[in-house]
Amino acid sequence: MKILGIESSCDETAASIVEDGVRILSSSVNSQIKEHQKFGGVVPEIASRRHTENIIPVVQEALSQSGLTLQEVDGIAVTAAPGLIGALLVGVNFAKGLCLAAGKPLIPVHHIRGHIAANYLAHPELKPPYLCLVVSGGHSHLVEVLDYTRFHVIGRTRDDAAGEAFDKAARAMGFPYPGGVILDGEAQKGNPNAYCLPKPKVDGSPYDFSFSGLKTAVINLIHNAKQKGEELNVQDLAASFQNTVAQILTERLLLAAHNLHYNVLAVAGGVSANSGLRAMLSQKCQQEKLQLYFPPLPLCGDNAAMIASQGYFEYQSGIQAGMDLNASPSMPIDDCLW
Ligand code: KG4
Ligand code: ZN
Repeated sequence: MKILGIESSCDETAASIVEDGVRILSSSVNSQIKEHQKFGGVVPEIASRRHTENIIPVVQEALSQSGLTLQEVDGIAVTAAPGLIGALLVGVNFAKGLCLAAGKPLIPVHHIRGHIAANYLAHPELKPPYLCLVVSGGHSHLVEVLDYTRFHVIGRTRDDAAGEAFDKAARAMGFPYPGGVILDGEAQKGNPNAYCLPKPKVDGSPYDFSFSGLKTAVINLIHNAKQKGEELNVQDLAASFQNTVAQILTERLLLAAHNLHYNVLAVAGGVSANSGLRAMLSQKCQQEKLQLYFPPLPLCGDNAAMIASQGYFEYQSGIQAGMDLNASPSMPIDDCLW
């Protein structure tokens, strides 16, 4: 079964065709990074306008790359939640029009479920149940993936998401948008033990995260150094910050794996591209003989192949939307109401 996936929840307009949830036949991603760079972050209205301009060329490219016509596609999956509402609406409306015109089923997909599905595209041997650490720009969750469409959230962030913490720390260190990946590059040139930063825990909730205290510690450190006229080694600070985040995430994931008896683990979302996190988790999981899966780098960030993949599994489980489908800026991963 061939599913056309469409993604427009933030600053990437993307379309892709995936067969049986695991084989990528085409993938087209138009990133707006350059557009938003001058503002230091994503400007929602600009994002919506660019999606409107780009969506038809991106879908046409995905179709022509695959050599398929729209008629040869079996269904159209679209990110309907969560994300920037004006951005989501572009994809949802376009997908509805396409389904109406071509007589195809419309499949709504939760963006974070899509990030998790990115692992199936590179590792088709990965099958639920397993434990997944989801770390993106807007979400940080520890999720039991009970089945392809059944999830149980056991931990979540109480304040900033991991990607948000990377972006805010990067901004404080003077790096341009998109901060996370630039901080990662600088961190690789620094000493991860140069600065001692806090690893906040949430009392009584061993699997929850809190990153705002860590972010504030970085901001205070930079402020104090400036006031005293001291030189900070920004590469050392980036390395120390990255190492601290990687430790927090690794500790929580391994604690949950031990307590809940999972020996298959996965990581998903934009921050799964982080070199420090990949290295630390790989080493610990090897030591403890746990099977660990990461998406390949091109599938860590937003793309439509992951939406087409999850769309396939949603459709198999009976999920289909009517022509009254709406977009939603927020929706829990374990309770999708379409
Ligand atoms: O999953 P994603 O592409 O979008 C959301 O669904 O939110 O995640 C984007 C987030 C951003 O905060 C970005 O800075 C972060 O992922 N990110 C990274 C890296 N690459 C992307 N953070 C740390 N290290 C990276 N290499
Ligand atoms: Zn995303």
